Amino acid sequence: MTWVKATTVEELQNCPQLFRASPKQIALFQVDGRSFAVDNRCPHEGYPLIEGSVDEACLLTCNWHNWKFRLEDGQCVLGGDHVRSYPTREENGEVWIDLSDPPADELLEKTLVGLKVAFDERDFGRICREITRLHYYQLDPEVAVWKAIEWSHDRWEFGTTHAYAAAADWLTLAREQHEIWDRRLVCLAETVDHMAFDALRRPQFPYAAVGDEFDAAAFTEAIEAEDRETAEGMVLRAMGDGLHWPELEPAFTKSALAHYNDFGHSLIYVLKTRQLLEQGGAKLEPFLLPALARHLIYTTREDLIPEFQEYGAALAQIDEPNKELPESGELFGASVRQALEWVIVHRASEPVEAVYDQLLCCLARNLLHYNLECEFVVEQPVSRNKSWLHFTHGITFANAVREMCNTYPEYWNAGLLQMACFIGRNRGYLDEAINESEWFVADDDEFFGEAFDRILDHGLRDPIFSAHLLKTTIAVRDECAHASDDCGKYLLAGLNRFLHSPIKQKHTRRLAHQAIALVKRDFD
Ligand code: FES
Repeated sequence: MTWVKATTVEELQNCPQLFRASPKQIALFQVDGRSFAVDNRCPHEGYPLIEGSVDEACLLTCNWHNWKFRLEDGQCVLGGDHVRSYPTREENGEVWIDLSDPPADELLEKTLVGLKVAFDERDFGRICREITRLHYYQLDPEVAVWKAIEWSHDRWEFGTTHAYAAAADWLTLAREQHEIWDRRLVCLAETVDHMAFDALRRPQFPYAAVGDEFDAAAFTEAIEAEDRETAEGMVLRAMGDGLHWPELEPAFTKSALAHYNDFGHSLIYVLKTRQLLEQGGAKLEPFLLPALARHLIYTTREDLIPEFQEYGAALAQIDEPNKELPESGELFGASVRQALEWVIVHRASEPVEAVYDQLLCCLARNLLHYNLECEFVVEQPVSRNKSWLHFTHGITFANAVREMCNTYPEYWNAGLLQMACFIGRNRGYLDEAINESEWFVADDDEFFGEAFDRILDHGLRDPIFSAHLLKTTIAVRDECAHASDDCGKYLLAGLNRFLHSPIKQKHTRRLAHQAIALVKRDFD
């Protein structure tokens, strides 16, 4: 208890009193002979509560935005955040208040209640305020991210979303910015906000019941068969049986690379799940692993559509010892078939690292040459919808290939061939006229410093876009540490152009045009 004398009964009877106990300011009120004390700064925007109105029911109204607080306990009954209240007592005509802080677990519980409301309402301002309260209470602010994962994990009809993938990168940046609270806060708040955005207004999609004992072959079979009950049930059983991510990762990786999956998302999600578990620990497994299993179950298998159907044959051919090698042409601008053949030829005679580096270099050149007109065309078929993100995924997927295939070298062929699929799919959307030298980067450190400054104040409302600015920048930085000089040069140049070019977030007229074109076919 830290009791201090704040004012006299007589003064308080005349009007509300302000007591300063630096850095605190405390507003004291008297209603019906009872004295109350609350923080003077309104928890909404900081205007002085002492200027507020108090009614007979002991409700304090902040007149700036009409939030209403119960004087007794500081509960906000209209508005948002609660205000801190302090115990008071009167003694010999003096009013005393107890300034001692509540126990840490009580502060944590109260703050998380507020954060959950902010999460459910996707109130970015309050998310920032509640995480900042954790920081100033000297609690671990990263708990906000762990709780957001817990609150969101069963809202994913189709499993893991980019919100979890981006979380790993935001946390990486947050930890690098450890000393600078406002920068660290942006990273943590963006993470929570993205999960809130993806979960907003979604019902729960419960996971299957605990199922059979985990068996890697049976798990991959269940994923292949889109048998959700078996795959999810097996993952839940595995955790109940004491298995952890390191034992399960091989099976998840195998399934992620079993097809040219969902634009590379599957392998990216596997890598980011690994990184999130390294950051947050095994306590996140019950939330992250069922979500990842569900993603793998429902992911699209793009090698089954005509554009990429040569992938399967290429994967079979690359392992044939006596295959006849096709001609290897230029990789930049290659079609899917040409790029797949290029991999087959070069894999036969070059170390895997060299083949990877050349493919990555080409993906970086593709990013550098993305035709910006694709952002603005209105009248075109759905098949020609391309955006920056189609190009950035080539880089983030490659990053996942290097990381996961270094652990599991048996998947290099699949990874390299899928990188070739990215090269081929972007072929028709390149602007050959780009002056490459305009985008080359002179000073890597300065460039990344500016890039992260830009990302931390991105100004983009939809979190999927800020997530991609960050994911691509982190992937490029990772890859530059391993790439050849030539590849590194193109990675930086491609990222430079991406970060400094417009992104169209919503294609209103294009979507309307394509909807009409589809529906009217059955009428006109
Ligand atoms: S500052 Fe008090 S309600 Fe907005």
